[in-house]
Amino acid sequence: MRNLRYYFHRAQKEQWAIGQFNFSTIEQFNAIVQSAQKLRAPIIAGTSEGESHFVGLHEAVAVRNVYRKKGVPVFLNLDHCKSFEYAKEAIHAGYDMVHFDGSKLPLKENIKISRDVVWQTWWHRVVVEGEIGRIGTDASKVYDEKFEVHEGDLTTVQQAQEYVKKTNVDCLAVSVGTFHGIQTGGLSPHIHLRRLHDIHEVIHIPLVLHGGSGTPEVDIQEAIKLGVCKININTDMRVAFTEALRKKLETDKDEIVPYKYFPEPMHAVQEVVEKYIRLFGGENKA
Ligand code: G3H
Ligand code: ZN
Repeated sequence: MRNLRYYFHRAQKEQWAIGQFNFSTIEQFNAIVQSAQKLRAPIIAGTSEGESHFVGLHEAVAVRNVYRKKGVPVFLNLDHCKSFEYAKEAIHAGYDMVHFDGSKLPLKENIKISRDVVWQTWWHRVVVEGEIGRIGTDASKVYDEKFEVHEGDLTTVQQAQEYVKKTNVDCLAVSVGTFHGIQTGGLSPHIHLRRLHDIHEVIHIPLVLHGGSGTPEVDIQEAIKLGVCKININTDMRVAFTEALRKKLETDKDEIVPYKYFPEPMHAVQEVVEKYIRLFGGENKA
């Protein structure tokens, strides 16, 4: 089985992106991985700190291993990890990747902890994602209020350069206009392609785009041409899963058998995942 570094390297060379899809239940995980299996795509299954507390780090590793034995290139990432200690726990549990998110810390501290995480992964061949700049919102949910992504929150070329040079992270999450979650009223995030271009000129490691849900397809395609090799999706799947589950339970009011009411929400998740894998160009890359 090829490792995650191989797929990052290939995605960067061939200009496509690996999809990261977050989950917090085994049903969502199965739906995500079965889509990857169907489209022969390498895939990253992500758990935020909250999602990983609910699922369990070791439990996530165990289910990943089930699919890996079947030959599916599925990798686990601890998404938006805020502490060195928890990153270490995930690494020891067997995660393939950790995303240390020190974006709210002063740059110096972000650099220090990121470097510690990189050192910690040295013997484990775990991939480390760092982050610079502020990605508008924290939670992957539906927002009623309207907001703008401020210019001042975008990743600057200078800070990205300093951070990458001093930490040696494998890939870098950048703030270039997307935000976590989606807004009602159809206001789409748009990617600041000029800023992404400037970052890509000087940063030669793979770039990561967060807040993928609801981003216009054309922006995503352009971002991939400008060095984005991994794109994170969560809200669109959460919405699809929850709405389909609600609909099913409202329609079949007497149904109490979980394996009879979960197929619809799982199918809804699969549709979302497949759409994004195709858009990212990940199909047939396994
Ligand atoms: O880290 C997770 C992602 O950035 C998900 O963002 O919920 O807007 O798709 P999203
Ligand atoms: Zn994110």
